[in-house]
Parts: sequence; structure tokens; C-alpha cells
Amino acid sequence: MFSLNSYKKIGNLISGSKISVIGASLVSILLPVLAISIFFDSLGLIDNPYFGFLLYVVMTPLLTLGIVLLFVGSFFSRGREELGTFTVEYLKEQFTRPGRYARVRKFLNFTVAITLFLVFVVGIASYSSFQYTSSPSFCGQFCHDVMQPQYTAFKNSPHSTVPCVDCHLGKDADWAERSRFTGVKQLFAVATNSYPKPILSPIEHLRPGRKTCEQCHLPDKFHGSRLYTKNRFLPDEKNTKVGTAILMKVGSGDIQGNMAHGIHWHVSENQQVLYRAADHEREIITEVRQVEKGKKDIIYTMAADDEEKVNPNAGGAESGELRKMDCIDCHNRPTHIFLSAEEALDQKLSANIIPPYLPFIKRQALAAIKKKYDSREVARVEISRDLQNWYSTNYPELILNNPSLFERAVQGTVQAYEENVFPKMDVEWGVYKNFLGHTDGSGCFRCHGKLQETQSGRIISSDCNLCHVILAENEEQPEIIKSLQEVID
Ligand code: HEC
Ligand code: HEC
Ligand code: HEC
Ligand code: HEC
Ligand code: HEC
Repeated sequence: MFSLNSYKKIGNLISGSKISVIGASLVSILLPVLAISIFFDSLGLIDNPYFGFLLYVVMTPLLTLGIVLLFVGSFFSRGREELGTFTVEYLKEQFTRPGRYARVRKFLNFTVAITLFLVFVVGIASYSSFQYTSSPSFCGQFCHDVMQPQYTAFKNSPHSTVPCVDCHLGKDADWAERSRFTGVKQLFAVATNSYPKPILSPIEHLRPGRKTCEQCHLPDKFHGSRLYTKNRFLPDEKNTKVGTAILMKVGSGDIQGNMAHGIHWHVSENQQVLYRAADHEREIITEVRQVEKGKKDIIYTMAADDEEKVNPNAGGAESGELRKMDCIDCHNRPTHIFLSAEEALDQKLSANIIPPYLPFIKRQALAAIKKKYDSREVARVEISRDLQNWYSTNYPELILNNPSLFERAVQGTVQAYEENVFPKMDVEWGVYKNFLGHTDGSGCFRCHGKLQETQSGRIISSDCNLCHVILAENEEQPEIIKSLQEVID
């Protein structure tokens, strides 16, 4: 299709400009490397977040830059005879003289072909870049230390297959853009080590919760009352197992004509609950508004001196903006679930990861993991030594005769610690609170705890049967579970 001559000419055109030479060098080095790497990556053969970063965030933009330089340079190329290809006079001359036109056409064909090819390559590379920077591997592992707590909790949660960006970016451009913008700020913060520890909740930058969650959870499919059971182990010799059974009145938002009722009443379409908080964590709620079409708003407010009682540092702090309550105001930890030390051990004991028949293991493990350690590496060694010392003093035969049982207990205890505590990021037990309950007067009791009232003295109900019916609380072999078990068996 092309004569040797036209290749030569293009060679001259490029070498006629320094900018083009730089561009051409970039392209000829990066193109084959990128092509081979992307091929292997698309086959799933590469699983290293740093390699992905190099490929998609460094090399792809460089290749694009190379191509731009190549063309910009040849436009300004000034050389011998025909090399002024892209000046207006030259083009005029070429197009008006029939003999020359054929050669110009060949040259144009070549340029168009190579441009299409490069656009294709850059297109694929940019698409892969977008995919890569949106993947949990990039978000969770690239800034490894910074994201380790959230990434670990995410991996152990019911949402471990939901990509970070589905909750943190969303699909509408508006939110995507805002988040990209803050993303650049965050990269800068990581580079300069100027981010807060522990990382703050990104409530202002998260996409509105309802849209995010409703991609998968439909409010009109909401659940009547549901039975929740929980096992605990007491810190006694037998690690006595006790059970709690609660019937939660989850109810429904009134979508598609169902009456709103129960806990999900807050997300009904016909009425709204709005609130203001005095602090970033939204622990101190100073005002609650219940807004219903055709009715007068009901406004509950917290007395200023109460505000100070709840948080002595608040000192009459300005209340924040009015926020509409959504899923995340209760389900604030759908995926970054950090357990309490007790709960973390109860789960391991329940699942038999820590053998529950090892005497006093709940009590000793709890004491060991609750200590403060400088790093996870130190914790691993110290927890193991702690248990070793205690058991070899108090139950020497047991660990001599059954070393594997003891080893399992140690591993399970270390796991319970490592899944929830990250000293490097100042994530200790209880740093991130879960609002789905009312531990320490937090969660639901931020509003349902008699703190706010209307002018006429009405408060938000805190009746123990408003949200649930307690069928058994920390009972050994609860009757209700026994009788349910009989029905199932
Ligand atoms: C199911 C939705 C969902 C997914 C998936 C998700 N997050 Fe989050 N994330 C949240 C919510 C909600 C919060 C806010 C918690 C709060 O306000 O208390 C949050 C908070 C955070 C925070 C702030 C610190 C904190 O714990 O409050 C970081 C950092 C974070 N997420 C990183 C990630 C990374 C990295 C991934 C992927 C590996 C990810 N998230 C996946 C919903 C999600
Ligand atoms: C991409 C889909 C997807 C998105 C987005 C999503 N979820 Fe889920 N969610 C799931 C799936 C799937 C499960 C069931 C997991 C299982 O049973 O192991 C689940 C489970 C749950 C559960 C039950 C957890 C449990 O302990 O059994 C709750 C509560 C929940 N999601 C709330 C939320 C909230 C709140 C959001 C928004 C921040 C959200 N989800 C966003 C898919 C999603
Ligand atoms: C007023 C607080 C509150 C709000 C607001 C709220 N939820 Fe819930 N939701 C709960 C509680 C409490 C439960 C009971 C389950 C539990 O304890 O885990 C629950 C249960 C669920 C479950 C069932 C989990 C299971 O075990 O099957 C899903 C799914 C869910 N919520 C999703 C949502 C979504 C999506 C939204 C927003 C449209 C939302 N919730 C808004 C408090 C709330
Ligand atoms: C931001 C404030 C706020 C928070 C947080 C909050 N609620 Fe409410 N809730 C209200 C208001 C206001 C009402 C209506 C007043 C009333 O019923 O006393 C209400 C009513 C309810 C009702 C009665 C609904 C009906 O059928 O009429 C239930 C059940 C309920 N809340 C459960 C919960 C649970 C469970 C949580 C925690 C997971 C929670 N709420 C957290 C403000 C809140
Ligand atoms: C506004 C709603 C609401 C009110 C009012 C309420 N609770 Fe709860 N309660 C919850 C939620 C939500 C949970 C968490 C369920 C879970 O862990 O998933 C819970 C859990 C519990 C548990 C089990 C804790 C555990 O982990 O074993 C007990 C016990 C309990 N509540 C007792 C009470 C008592 C006593 C009252 C009356 C003073 C009360 N609750 C009032 C919403 C409420």
C-alpha cells in the first residue's frame, strides 16, 4: 500500500522536530510494553496493585502524551524540501497540483490508519485504567496501610463482593465528579501524610444512601418482623454459652401503597425524618424534624445544657446542616464492620475456630486482646506468649497432651484481634461505632433516648417494645430456641 519512499518521508517528518522525536520514542517504548502487559492482565495473570498502578495510572497517560507530542511536533516540523507538509502553503500547493495529489493521498491514508490504530490502543488502555482505578484492589490495597482496616473489614462482610465504587462513587456524573475531585485531594493527603487517623467517616462525600443501597435492596420488598439470635460465651471456666433471641420489627417503608410501619418507617416516601448533629460523627443530635405532607412539622430539640452533658467539649457548638435520614444513618457499618472484643471472640467460639471447651479461654483471650500493642506483629507474638504462660501455669497437662487444640485457640484469638484492630491507623477497639442498636446510649438512642423534646414536652418513644420483642436475653438454652429447633428437626 505504501512505497518505501513514503515511510522515509514520514521518518524525515518526525526527525525534523525534537518534540516529535520525544513523542516517537515514548510511543515506540511504551506501546509494545503496554500491549503485552494489558494482554496478560486481561487474562487475570497479574494480581499486583502496584503493577496495575504503573500500567494504568503512569504508562497509559504517558503513551497518550507521546502520541500528542508526535503529532504536535510533526505539525511544526521544518526541514528540507517537502518536509513542510503541514504548513498551509505547502498543503495548498499539494492539493492544487494533480501529479503530487496521489502522493499526498498515500501519506494521508497512512496517517489516518496509524491514528485509528493509536486511538484504538489508547481507548483500550484508558478503559482498562478506568476499570482498574475503580476496582477494590486499587482502592483497598494500593494505599495499603491507610486502607487496611476498611479493606479487611470489607473482605469479612456480607458485602465483600460489592466494589468500593458502587457505594463510594455511584453512577451519576455529578457524584462521580465530586468524588474524583476529593480523590485527588486524598492522594495528596496520603503522599504528604496529612490525613486524619483514624480515617474519618466520609459522610459528606458518599452518594445519598438510598440510591446506593437501592441498586440491590428494594424498599418495597421489605421484611415483616424477623427473628435474630445471638450466642455469647461467659468468662467462666466452662465458657458457658448463652443465647439471646429478638424479634425485630423491621417492617416496611410505604412503597407501592403498603402502610409504613416498624423500623423502616423512617424511609417511607410519604414522610421524612430530618436531623441536625453537633459533631462530625453524628453522635449528638440536637434537632429532629418529623415532616409529613399535609401535617404540621413536629420538631424535637435538645436543650443546650443537655448538649454539653452529652459532650462536655461541644460547648454550644453550631449545629450542622439539616440532613434527611436515610439507610446509612442506621446501617452506617454495612461493610466496614468493626466488632467489639467480646463479639469478635464470641463469633470465633460460636464457629468453633476457638475451641469453646478449653477452660477459661473466653476470659483469658479477652484479657490478651484488650491490651494495647504497638503493632500487629508485636500483638501476634505477645498474645501467643500471654496465653502460653497462663495455660502452662494453670493447665500444664492440657496443653502438653493436646497441643493442637491449644494452637487453634491461639490462632483464633490472634485472628479476632487482627480482623478488628490496626494500631498503625489508630483503629483500636470501639473506634468506629455501629448505629444499628443502642450500645452506650448511641445508635437508635441518639434520638429515641429522651434527649430531645417538642415545645409541648413530647419525646420520641423509647418503649422497649417499639422496635423489638425480646424473647430471651442471655439465657442458657433458651426455651424459644429449643422449641423452634424441635419444629425444624
Ligand atoms: C456496601 C457499601 C460500601 C462498600 C462496598 C464500601 N464501603 Fe467504605 N463506607 C461505606 C459507608 C456507609 C461508610 C461510612 C461509615 C459511617 O459513616 O460511619 C464507609 C466509610 C469508609 C471509609 C472511612 C472510614 C470509616 O470506616 O468510616 C473508608 C476509608 C472506606 N469506606 C473505604 C472503602 C474501601 C477501600 C472499600 C473497598 C475495598 C469500601 N470502602 C467499600 C460503605 C461502603
Ligand atoms: C451491589 C449490591 C449491593 C449493594 C449496593 C448493597 N448491598 Fe446490602 N447486600 C447485598 C447482598 C448480595 C447481601 C446478602 C449477603 C449475604 O447474605 O451474605 C446484602 C446484605 C445486606 C444486609 C444484611 C446483612 C447481614 O448481616 O445479613 C444489610 C443490612 C444490607 N445488605 C444493607 C445494605 C446497605 C445499607 C447498603 C447501602 C450502603 C447496601 N446494603 C448496599 C448486596 C448489596
Ligand atoms: C431507623 C434505622 C434504619 C433505617 C433508616 C434503615 N434500616 Fe434497614 N434495618 C434496620 C434494623 C434495626 C434492621 C434489623 C436487622 C439488624 O439488626 O441487622 C434492618 C434490616 C434491614 C435489612 C434486612 C437484613 C436481613 O437480615 O435480612 C436490609 C436489607 C435493610 N435493613 C436495608 C435497608 C435499606 C436499603 C435502607 C434504606 C432504604 C434501610 N435499611 C434503612 C434499621 C434501619
Ligand atoms: C435521627 C433521629 C432518629 C434515629 C437515629 C432513629 N429514629 Fe426511630 N424514629 C424517629 C422519629 C422522629 C420517630 C417518630 C416519633 C415516634 O414514633 O415517637 C421514630 C419512630 C420510630 C419507630 C416507630 C415507627 C412507627 O411505626 O410509627 C420505630 C420502630 C423506630 N423509630 C425504630 C428505630 C430504630 C431501630 C433506630 C436505630 C436503628 C432508630 N429508630 C433510630 C427518629 C429517629
Ligand atoms: C428505637 C428502637 C429500640 C428501642 C426503643 C429499644 N431497642 Fe433494644 N435494640 C434495638 C436494636 C436495633 C437492637 C440491635 C439488634 C442487632 O444487634 O442487630 C437492639 C438490641 C437489644 C438487645 C440485645 C443486645 C444484644 O446484643 O444482645 C437488648 C437486650 C435490648 N435491645 C434491650 C432493650 C431494652 C431493655 C429496651 C428498653 C429500654 C430497648 N432495647 C429499646 C432497638 C431498640
